Amino acid sequence: MIKPRLLILTLALAAGISMTAQEPATLKDAYHGAFYVGVAINADQITGKDARGTKIVTEQFSSITPENALKWERVHPQPDTYDFSLPDQYVTLGEKHHMFIVGHTLVWHQQTPAWVFQDAQGKPISREALLKRLHDHIFTVVGRYKGRIQSWDVVNEALNDDGTLRNSKWKQILGDDYLIKAYQWAHEADPSAELNYNDYSLELPAKRQGAMKLIQKLQAAGIKVAVVGIQGHDSLDWPSLASEEETIDTLSKLGVKIAITELDIDVLPAVGANPTADISLHIKSNPKLNPYPNELPDAMQKQLARRYADLFGTFLKHRDVMSRVTLWGVTDADSWRNDWPVVGRTSYPLLWDRAGKPKPAYEAVIKASR
Ligand code: XIL
Repeated sequence: MIKPRLLILTLALAAGISMTAQEPATLKDAYHGAFYVGVAINADQITGKDARGTKIVTEQFSSITPENALKWERVHPQPDTYDFSLPDQYVTLGEKHHMFIVGHTLVWHQQTPAWVFQDAQGKPISREALLKRLHDHIFTVVGRYKGRIQSWDVVNEALNDDGTLRNSKWKQILGDDYLIKAYQWAHEADPSAELNYNDYSLELPAKRQGAMKLIQKLQAAGIKVAVVGIQGHDSLDWPSLASEEETIDTLSKLGVKIAITELDIDVLPAVGANPTADISLHIKSNPKLNPYPNELPDAMQKQLARRYADLFGTFLKHRDVMSRVTLWGVTDADSWRNDWPVVGRTSYPLLWDRAGKPKPAYEAVIKASR
């Protein structure tokens, strides 16, 4: 008589199933069925010039976001000039590897050329003229990738930390309703694309309230905001897991899905009291602010790994409302955090190290999926 264990083993082997409890080998497999695991990619990863980086992207991730390639200043640098060479390669790469392709971003107060808001004499343009520019930009960019870019960050960072609407050039010239126009046109340009609102520090209660009001206002205007993106430029101790959970919970009650869109975790000394992702900060470095110029000590690696595991554990707990978790870069060498908010630091916020090796934090994220 065959013993039951042996029978199971024989059947499993016959079915080609390995009996050894193996860790899933990739992030996308580990979180398959829960949410997409995405990554922001730079020009060299889009073109394949950074072959090592591109390999990690295509093997490990199920979604991509262009770190800069689709921002207004890159894709539409002059009034009559669009440059789609890099975005075209970006979308082709995503399609080739069957990834969920994100567009970032259509309306932002940053990385948008000054000419957008000015006439030929450098004077502010009229509401009508700016509406036409915004309309044409959205129809040209979203229209080009209709049915190919699945998810658009339509408006990025429209809110102040106190929850009020940021007094950007968009708001100054177009008025508070500029968001409604942007979402309506994005929808018309590609009715099949999911439309996102993306911002940082939504874990701050006042800003979260502001985001809720904003989404409700858009919904009242008949707009379907599919996803709220929590950027996730985090640190070892901010946000707390409790406030992350509360943020996911309260925002998802609006009938939207939640994505973590730009996750990275800073282990370096903080500057300033409040969490932010304001890209205009350029603080001068000094040795105190840059404590690990050569390598990250083991104890810090462990803390980072634990923090990543805790956050992914929290996302997994809310998998019913989570659509995606995207890392803001591949290796530590790629990270914008080497130059922000302090210029010229050696930063360690991601899952692969400067040599392209997975860090303990990578293993911890894989483990957290089980
Ligand atoms: C950053 C990029 O990573 C940098 O390369 C660029 O110089 C500045 O922008 N919030 C966003 C992202 O929505 O687009 C920003 O990306 C980081 C903060």
